Amino acid sequence: MTRHPPGPPPAALPGLLKKLAVDRLGLMREAAALGDAVRVVIGPKKLYVFNHPDHAKHVLADNNANYRKGIGLVQARRVLGDGLLTSDGDIWQEQRRTVQPAFKPTRIARQADAVAEEAAKLVALLRGREGAGPVDVQAELTGLTLGVLGRTLLDTDLGGHDAVAHSFEAVQDQAMFEMVTQDLVPKWLPTPGQRRFRKARKELYEVADRLVADRTGRMAGGEPPQDALGRMILAARRTADTTAARARLREEIVTLLLAGHETTASTLGWTLSLLDKHPEVRERVRAEARHVLGDRGPQVEDLHRLGYTTMVVQEAMRLYPPVWVLPRVAQEDDEVGGYTVSAGADVLVSPYILHRHPDMWEEPERFDPERFDAQRVAHRPRYAYIPFGAGPRFCVGSNLGMMEAVFVTALLTRDLTLTSVPGHRAVPEPMLSLRMAGGLPMTVTAAS
Ligand code: HEM
Repeated sequence: MTRHPPGPPPAALPGLLKKLAVDRLGLMREAAALGDAVRVVIGPKKLYVFNHPDHAKHVLADNNANYRKGIGLVQARRVLGDGLLTSDGDIWQEQRRTVQPAFKPTRIARQADAVAEEAAKLVALLRGREGAGPVDVQAELTGLTLGVLGRTLLDTDLGGHDAVAHSFEAVQDQAMFEMVTQDLVPKWLPTPGQRRFRKARKELYEVADRLVADRTGRMAGGEPPQDALGRMILAARRTADTTAARARLREEIVTLLLAGHETTASTLGWTLSLLDKHPEVRERVRAEARHVLGDRGPQVEDLHRLGYTTMVVQEAMRLYPPVWVLPRVAQEDDEVGGYTVSAGADVLVSPYILHRHPDMWEEPERFDPERFDAQRVAHRPRYAYIPFGAGPRFCVGSNLGMMEAVFVTALLTRDLTLTSVPGHRAVPEPMLSLRMAGGLPMTVTAAS
């Protein structure tokens, strides 16, 4: 028997569509207030929002084969094409097999050194701003995470981070615009956003092409490379259709850069903003960093010793999960939590909402790193906390992202005090990732 979850009355729809454009997080909260499962009917379209860990487990893990990537990512395909984040089925499986070994534990140890060096450069750069006006720390973190990705996955110095970061912003702005306008504005219209998008996409593809050309030259006759770029180039060579393979290679490189840099920079931005608001927590992070690291930079073995800092980062990702929604499309009819989901329906699972479920999280809005104490974690359902997703599409870069967030938080806090400018409010802006609206202007002083 067909059973539908509750949903807003048809009269509420115009208001909902407006909110989709201006207050997406508010919309998700309103949906959650209706229940753990919500159904919205918009003309012929059906949208389900599932807000319970068991539902997340079903959609993302147990019956993942029935759910392909959906809303938002469909728009992102215009630049990411069939890269690892947006592809499905056999293409996805092949790409995951190609890239996954670049993230294995033996490589993480080497990646730690690159993270430590990039973090030390950022500390030095910020030190140079001591006593000067505010710095947009979010922009600097974005540069740092791009630099780390260049060194760890592509074995290159990406240089000119700013241009790459701006291109990603233009691409995302347009993808989000197309999502909220439900693709009603034709793509051939030369709107300013559309023009910016095309220019940015061209620039990103040019960066990718340069990386491939440079690496191909270096690979001639040498050892088979173990990093992501080298592995992707070798995989592309095995494909008969070279034009398609070249296009795919670009998309794969741009995907890794996009998926890996904004998420980690967002985690760091939110963590630093929360530490600024909670000086007692900042002091504990500082004390831990001084105890574990002394004056030196971090190495991979330090990661498990920076336990409190790890809890702080985890709590920041609970409140502000960089990937705030996981969109899927049902392939066949299914049943989730006793409710019917029809084939073709859009399905949303939102870490932002799940991480605030009142049955799993006491006082969900309160910042409390102790929630990630091992004993308390053991008492919570596993799928109540999914900042890196779940099931086969689980983030391939989670270890790198986590290590980066913990090391950079520890080093910056050990050496500096970063203070938000008076009146600055950290407001989340849900784009493809959960950005901070207007960046993070902070002043820098040396840590006492
Ligand atoms: C703290 C930082 C990060 C967070 C919170 C994060 C979060 C996520 C989430 C939630 C997903 C699943 C998306 C879905 O199921 O629809 C994902 C996938 C992915 N992430 Fe991350 N990520 C982070 C860092 C990174 C890094 C450093 C990389 C390195 C390149 C990366 C690359 C990817 C890729 C390629 C995918 C797609 C995997 C697949 O579908 O097989 N991420 N990430």
